[in-house]
Amino acid sequence: MTSDSLRNTRIPLAHGSGAIPAVGFGTLIPDLADTRRATKTALEVGFRHLDCAERYRNEEAVGEALHEAFEAGILQRDDLFVTTKLWNSNHRPERVKPALQASLRRLQLDYVDCYLIHTPFAFQPGDEQDPRDENGQVIYDNGVTLAETWQALEALVDDGLCRSIGLSDVTLDKVREIVAVARIKPAVVQVESHPYLPEWELLDFCREQGIVLLAFAALGHSLDPNVLEDKVITAIAARTNMTPAQVCLSWAVQRGSAFLTTSTKPQRIRENFDISTLPDDAMREIRNDITANVRFNAVVDSGVPGFIPRRE
Ligand SMILES: NC(=O)c1ccc[n+]([C@@H]2O[C@H](COP(=O)([O-])OP(=O)(O)OC[C@H]3O[C@@H](n4cnc5c(N)ncnc54)[C@H](OP(=O)(O)O)[C@@H]3O)[C@@H](O)[C@H]2O)c1
Repeated sequence: MTSDSLRNTRIPLAHGSGAIPAVGFGTLIPDLADTRRATKTALEVGFRHLDCAERYRNEEAVGEALHEAFEAGILQRDDLFVTTKLWNSNHRPERVKPALQASLRRLQLDYVDCYLIHTPFAFQPGDEQDPRDENGQVIYDNGVTLAETWQALEALVDDGLCRSIGLSDVTLDKVREIVAVARIKPAVVQVESHPYLPEWELLDFCREQGIVLLAFAALGHSLDPNVLEDKVITAIAARTNMTPAQVCLSWAVQRGSAFLTTSTKPQRIRENFDISTLPDDAMREIRNDITANVRFNAVVDSGVPGFIPRRE
């Protein structure tokens, strides 16, 4: 495989400052030592975009990896795009700024490049991230609207604590709703997307509005049906000398989205950064010949995260 510049693609933010590297590393890693090691490896390999969340309960480990990388001269703060996310139990406007400040302390940063509302579902406000009633049902919060939480995020941009804001785990309707009332529009919308869930309609809307679609689970989270074993993907991989993962990730960038992928294995972290431009016929085949439609993460329906182990 020959290297090209695809891996260094940066998408300028129309509704925020700077540009987001299209190739992103996600830090949804349950073990803290693994988080620290994998994040450091990702930075060494060349990833310049990290995705975090207070809900992952490992921002300290990411912060340690960042600190080590800065100290070692691997990169400087300005080279890096860091996103973190406001959790569902912090949607009340008065909880928003303290939540970001706590994330910043854990990450050892003065600002994040992007702050996302993790899901559009407000849970009972408080420090319990997974509030449940006696029947085990999630306790939602009807006392705050998404628009009110959004306004509180806009104030964080004014304060300089984040350079852009966005939404995650949303449907197209919710994005439209916020775009219609926003003073500062979403710069980024993060949703599950891979060849089995291309979200073309959302991508088109985002493109029209100058919003970056950031695809999570870009490899389908290694779940079955496994997109990495798809016949169309493996045939393209064979003839382009790429791995199936590289085909999926290259496709994500070439169609205009940014992506997040995660691995704790150094070889795969390197592989996932090392993407190359696909020929046009491969792009067409992925769009037209793959008919499977699979959503792996049901978070979009309930606000309850599908890939995060419950740790009480
Ligand atoms: N907004 C949200 O609600 C939300 C939800 C989910 C995820 N996210 C974000 O998106 C990031 C990525 O999501 P994800 O973890 O589902 O991504 P993913 O890259 O689709 O799936 C990761 C899984 O694929 C495996 N894998 C990674 N690279 C591979 C390769 N080259 N070949 C074969 N298998 C490979 C990993 O296993 P190994 O570790 O064993 O390599 C891991 O099990 C998360 O870390 C998080 O930051 C956001």
